Amino acid sequence: MTLYESRDGRLRLFRGDSRHLHPIVSGSVGVILTSPPYWVRGRGRRSAERYARDLAVGFGREWKRVLAPDGDLWLMIGDRHDGVEWVGMDALVTGWLRRAGWRLQSRGFWLQTRSRERWDSRVNYLLRFRKAGQAVRPRGTTLGWMLPLPRSHPESLWDAIPEPLVRTVLETSKKRGPVLDPFAGSGTVGRITASYGRDWIGVERDPLMARVTARRLRLRLRRVLRPGA
Ligand SMILES: C[S@@+](CC[C@H](N)C(=O)[O-])C[C@H]1O[C@@H](n2cnc3c(N)ncnc32)[C@H](O)[C@@H]1O
Repeated sequence: MTLYESRDGRLRLFRGDSRHLHPIVSGSVGVILTSPPYWVRGRGRRSAERYARDLAVGFGREWKRVLAPDGDLWLMIGDRHDGVEWVGMDALVTGWLRRAGWRLQSRGFWLQTRSRERWDSRVNYLLRFRKAGQAVRPRGTTLGWMLPLPRSHPESLWDAIPEPLVRTVLETSKKRGPVLDPFAGSGTVGRITASYGRDWIGVERDPLMARVTARRLRLRLRRVLRPGA
């Protein structure tokens, strides 16, 4: 993995596949906040199940290892009508994460105002999970927003995660330990996390997006890490 780092070492970005988070110490992360690529191309339940399972098991294994016992996992995921039916992606992801030992604690909805046409058949969820046995009190928190579609960084290939969501998450989650975004994109979570004076770790597979984030957060290329190094 290629590492980009801020001068003081508090912001770190790894360029690589976040199924493997070997440079991150077990139990060291306070909050995971991320928006994985949405299920956009697939159709039908089998494809939707595959997406949910890959997220919860393929990526989730490492999330479980690196997150502190009382840490929070926040996922922003989308649900959509695939031409036949609404697939209920929030329930599929929650089901697979539940089998992997996570418990859903808060459920947020984000409806876009001034949405673009291609978003009209979509709902955005913000789901908060804890490891089993680490319930959030008070339980059953529901969150809701009506937000304009956020403006992305001009060089980003993706829509940005909305800033009010990131702020809510940081203000209501565990305050100790770095914030991890395993699908960092153009680094919106990193930028806002830094404004709170907190440490951030991002992982981004796409070299172009990693360079955009590095530039945006003023990170410098450090060294190349080999697995197990
Ligand atoms: C929806 S975008 C995130 C946008 C980000 N929240 C922002 O505000 O800019 C998802 C990102 O995940 C990255 N990605 C996809 N698969 C990945 C993987 N296996 N490991 C790391 N990053 C991955 C994509 O390249 C993309 O930049």
